[in-house]
Amino acid sequence: MRLEGKVALITGAAHGVKDELMGFGGSAAWMFVKEGAKVVLADIAVEAGERSAVQIREDGFEAVFVKLDVTNEKDWQNAIDVAVSTFGKLDVLVNNAGSAGPGTVEETTVDDWDGQMDVHAKGVFLGTKYAIPEMRRAGGGSIINTSSIYGIVGSPDSTAYHAAKGASRLFTKSAAVQYAADNIRVNSVHPGFVTTPMTVAGFNTEPRRSWLLGRIPMGRIGDPDEIAHGMVYLASDESSYVTGAELVIDGGTTAQ
Ligand SMILES: NC(=O)c1ccc[n+]([C@@H]2O[C@H](COP(=O)([O-])OP(=O)(O)OC[C@H]3O[C@@H](n4cnc5c(N)ncnc54)[C@H](O)[C@@H]3O)[C@@H](O)[C@H]2O)c1
Repeated sequence: MRLEGKVALITGAAHGVKDELMGFGGSAAWMFVKEGAKVVLADIAVEAGERSAVQIREDGFEAVFVKLDVTNEKDWQNAIDVAVSTFGKLDVLVNNAGSAGPGTVEETTVDDWDGQMDVHAKGVFLGTKYAIPEMRRAGGGSIINTSSIYGIVGSPDSTAYHAAKGASRLFTKSAAVQYAADNIRVNSVHPGFVTTPMTVAGFNTEPRRSWLLGRIPMGRIGDPDEIAHGMVYLASDESSYVTGAELVIDGGTTAQ
């Protein structure tokens, strides 16, 4: 029970339906409740999110779903209110919602750029901004931002995605420094290539699959649970002296 007594809000958590491919947020929701947390699953995908929360409750755990577009300030105020009014406080926020953003610099439109910056940079900023006062009230907290190895290194594609994930990585360190004295820790997770609802179509298609495998020293694409395990660590008190850190979980991809 590594998260006993904690209340967590996880964005991008809609894909947590049993026997279906899960995303990091969905997988983390299940792991968090099994470790003793109460969880608010948040997403724009209402049907899948509700189904995930219902299944978690059917298994005897405490979870609710709230519709949240992470780019919308009012939605954030509502989602934090739901967490506090339902479970009494907020200890953990996982800013995990995201979307793919392919394209070279010349292929990327201004709309593509703004869309990526909105979901990965503004979304993380807004979530952090509205979580901080509640965490301060709770005596501290842990904010976990899902960046990417694409927030650390470049690639031949995904221009706006790289820029936005890089923004989330540095925003994390800025917030970590600002709120360390409030006992609020802020860290980023940097997954490598992992099969999820967001990536499955592309990752299973040649020549993309061979290109990916050629870049992963461990020789395999990752599993969502392997990322969620890292989130459990950062959410728990086991990481009590960890803030502003980057947890890379990538099968060695960025070690070379
Ligand atoms: N899968 C990978 O290989 C990989 C690697 C590195 C980083 N990531 C990042 O991990 C995070 C989770 O992705 P995943 O691969 O688990 O995918 P996933 O299939 O769980 O998809 C992400 C979720 O975010 C939700 N979402 C998108 N825009 C939103 C918005 N504006 N407001 C609220 N929710 C929104 C989607 O509905 C979806 O449920 C994303 O930030 C992604 O960029 C993924």
